[in-house]
Amino acid sequence: MINKKAFITGVNGQDGSYLAEYLLSLGYEVHGMIRRHSMAENQDSRVTHLTDKIVTHYGDLLDESSIDTILKKITPDEIYNIGAQSHVRISFDIPQFTVKTNALGVLNMLESYRRVCPDAKFYQASSSEMFGNSVDEDGFQRESTPMTPVSPYGCSKLFAYSIVKNYRNSYKLHATNGILFNHESPRRGSNFVTNKVVKTAVQIKLGLSKNLELGNMDTYRDWGHSKDYVKAMHMILNHEKPDDFVVSTMITHSVREMTDYVFKKLDLNYKDYVSENIILKRPEELKYLKGDSTKTRTILGWKPEYTFESMLDEMIEYWLDKFN
Ligand code: GDD
Repeated sequence: MINKKAFITGVNGQDGSYLAEYLLSLGYEVHGMIRRHSMAENQDSRVTHLTDKIVTHYGDLLDESSIDTILKKITPDEIYNIGAQSHVRISFDIPQFTVKTNALGVLNMLESYRRVCPDAKFYQASSSEMFGNSVDEDGFQRESTPMTPVSPYGCSKLFAYSIVKNYRNSYKLHATNGILFNHESPRRGSNFVTNKVVKTAVQIKLGLSKNLELGNMDTYRDWGHSKDYVKAMHMILNHEKPDDFVVSTMITHSVREMTDYVFKKLDLNYKDYVSENIILKRPEELKYLKGDSTKTRTILGWKPEYTFESMLDEMIEYWLDKFN
């Protein structure tokens, strides 16, 4: 068992909650930061089953003093900065909040980390959205692919990625980036496309809903499972040399193919229920993602256990159970 202390921002998110479970299973003392909202049940809904096992602290990436206070109190060995405004389309509606949280918030974390506990190791949740529409000739994005983001979210994440590298080099910190491609699970927010499709398809199957409106169905994403990806986060942070790593399945599917798979699993034809609504499209779209995670697989020995199909099957089962 590992006798270490970990601090996770965004512990109540999909990844934060799976990461907390994973670190607990390894023997860690797990602390998480929770933001105060007006809806009490949203503050820790994904970690209520861990109430007795983890320690939560109120704080905010935009409130430097809260980060300082928490880090001084815990003196963690490992810091996972996973908290963010993580919805790409919504980043067009609230660009300034997105940039403050995802860019300045990371700088706030790094400043506290540097001053309070510089011997800790730091993981930053960087994103394949940073690549924008830049693709290498062989159809993959990898660590060396130029980054040309096409959303306020992507731009904010690129700043964060860059400042993490800058702090690593300037202050000799063990600060790392995981460049994660899309990753899903039953805990995914249902305004992200996979869980929106699965949840609504199940509702249609059970007569609880009649149709599904989507935005662009002809974009491609490399979708993995969050449970596999949080293990990669732990490996990236614990690699002896602080570095940047792509985490992906190396397989891509369109939103249309994903929708077709989910409806077919429920013996339905998506064409009878799904329509495209321009309101759900993005002002600028990232069209195609397929990640080359060879570096992560070779150096760290990581590989995913879930497939695209087994991940969606698990999500379908979850919603069938929930509504039945
Ligand atoms: N959300 C959503 N809702 N997306 C839709 C819809 C819809 O109704 N219809 C089509 N899409 C398309 C989007 O335009 C996009 O091309 C694709 O489905 C995936 O959208 P999301 O599931 O919202 O994910 P994302 O790719 O924009 O961002 C996710 O992955 C990033 C990694 O590349 C988020 O998890 C980010 O936080 C993450 O960094």
